[in-house]
Amino acid sequence: MEFQEAVRARQSVRVYADRMVEEAKLTAILEAANRAPSAGNFQAYEIYVVRGQAKRQALMESTFDQKFVGQAPVSLVFCTHAGRCEYPSPETWALEDATIACTFAMLAATDLGLATCWVGAFSPDLATKVIGAPEGVTPMAILPIGYAGETPERTSRRALRELVHEG
Ligand SMILES: Cc1cc2nc3c(=O)[nH]c(=O)nc-3n(C[C@H](O)[C@H](O)[C@H](O)COP(=O)(O)O)c2cc1C
Repeated sequence: MEFQEAVRARQSVRVYADRMVEEAKLTAILEAANRAPSAGNFQAYEIYVVRGQAKRQALMESTFDQKFVGQAPVSLVFCTHAGRCEYPSPETWALEDATIACTFAMLAATDLGLATCWVGAFSPDLATKVIGAPEGVTPMAILPIGYAGETPERTSRRALRELVHEG
C-alpha cells in the first residue's frame, strides 16, 4: 500500500474477526515501530506483546471493559521507559518516543491489511500487572491488532483552514 493510501485507509476499528495475525506481519509491525525516531535515539519506551485468551481478557478488563480489546487476537502495549533517556525531563521525551512508535506500528498494521484502534483509556496499574512490566516502565497506549470485523463510518476532521495557521 502506498503511504498516503495507508494514512487515508487507517481508521479505528472496534470489532475484530476471529482470525489470527500472521507472525510475519506482527514482526513487520514491530520492525516499523523500531524504526520510529526518538529523542537522542534513546528509544525510551518498551513494547509488550499480549496474546492468549487469559491475558487478552485481563488486558480488556484494564481498559474498563472495552470489549474489542479482548476480541483482538493480539495487542501491543506501548510503555514509557524514562530511565533510558539521558536528557533532562525524560518523562516527556519518553512519552513522545512511545507515541511515535505506536503511530508507526498503527500505520504499518494498516499497510498490511490489518485493523487497529489506539486505546488510551485504561488503568495503568492493571495493565502493568497484566504485562508484568518492571518499575519505571509505564503503559502509555494499548494497540489491539487484528482483521477488521466491521467497516466503521468515516470520522470527520477539522478543515485545514481552521487547523493550520501561518506562524
Ligand atoms: C490518545 C488516544 C486515545 C484513544 N483512546 C481510545 C479508547 O480508549 N477507546 C477507543 O475506543 N478509542 C480510542 N481512541 C480512538 C479515537 O476515538 C479515534 O482515533 C478518533 O475518534 C478518530 O477516529 P479514527 O481513528 O477512526 O480516525 C483513542 C485515540 C487516541 C489518539
